[in-house]
Amino acid sequence: MGVKVNCKLLKKEEIVNGIYKYTVNAPEIANLAKPGQFLEIKVSETGEPFLRRPISIYNINKELDEVEFIFQVKGRGTELLSKIEIGKEIDIMGPLGKGCYDVKEYNNVAIIGGGIGIYPLYELTKQLKGKANLNVYLGFRDKSLVTCEKEFEEIGLNKLVVTTDDGSYKEKGFAIDFMKKDIEEHKVDMIFACGPLPMLKAIRDYAIANNIPCQISLEERMGCGIGACLGCAVKIISEDEVVYKHVCKDGPVFYAKEVEF
Ligand SMILES: Cc1cc2nc3c(=O)[nH]c(=O)nc-3n(C[C@H](O)[C@H](O)[C@H](O)COP(=O)(O)OP(=O)(O)OC[C@H]3O[C@@H](n4cnc5c(N)ncnc54)[C@H](O)[C@@H]3O)c2cc1C
Ligand code: FES
Repeated sequence: MGVKVNCKLLKKEEIVNGIYKYTVNAPEIANLAKPGQFLEIKVSETGEPFLRRPISIYNINKELDEVEFIFQVKGRGTELLSKIEIGKEIDIMGPLGKGCYDVKEYNNVAIIGGGIGIYPLYELTKQLKGKANLNVYLGFRDKSLVTCEKEFEEIGLNKLVVTTDDGSYKEKGFAIDFMKKDIEEHKVDMIFACGPLPMLKAIRDYAIANNIPCQISLEERMGCGIGACLGCAVKIISEDEVVYKHVCKDGPVFYAKEVEF
């Protein structure tokens, strides 16, 4: 389990309408964090709403003792979070979850994210740089929601494909179709994916059908975030048996072949 710390909000930027990037001073979390892990964030000082909100770690900067996360305003919790001013302290628990597995040397890796699901993939992509040829696929609904393209580009990738469902920016269509086309030409040793459920289901089915190892990061609704409330249970196939596991404690990353949607 991670630590619970008060982290000073150092930088705050509304990167596109309703999506914020926060940089916090968090030496303990920066030291412990792995790609794919997340934070449970207290969004107000009043204790209302009671539950913390889970947000993925986007970037870890150990030298500067900083952690960055990016969130989209969805409801009351994220709205309150977006109102916190620079210089204030935010009560954060983290890093939580197990994060990504096998961040190691590969030949070719495909990294695919959709919408807010691209954020946990940034630190992973950074850490895989130099360990594999990296093809990254980022899918968005439309141009107004495109974020972090430049940041991924600057990592130095073999290929970066940005898609929008309506074709309002870069490639028109679903990111998965571009990934499949590339994989037909060049085999990959691992797919890492995070995004909306229909996208993850399609990626899981494709990976299983083509015998490609694949890890997917699930974004179930959460309660406690530490395995104590059963709020985030998912069906997992373990040794041919279906068992329930916690997305918060046992995930949020699972091997695709284990997940029973
Ligand atoms: C492990 C994990 C990592 C996450 N990482 C990020 C991230 O990096 N950036 C980001 O913007 N969001 C992320 N989320 C989603 C984020 O936690 C929710 O959007 C947030 O909790 C909503 O809180 P709220 O009070 O604003 O909205 P609520 O008032 O609680 O809900 C508003 C709407 O959002 C929907 N919603 C709430 N939680 C989720 C969820 N977990 N998945 C899908 N829909 C949800 C509700 O059904 C409702 O329609 C993550 C979720 C998990 C579980
Ligand atoms: S959120 Fe409480 S057990 Fe996972």
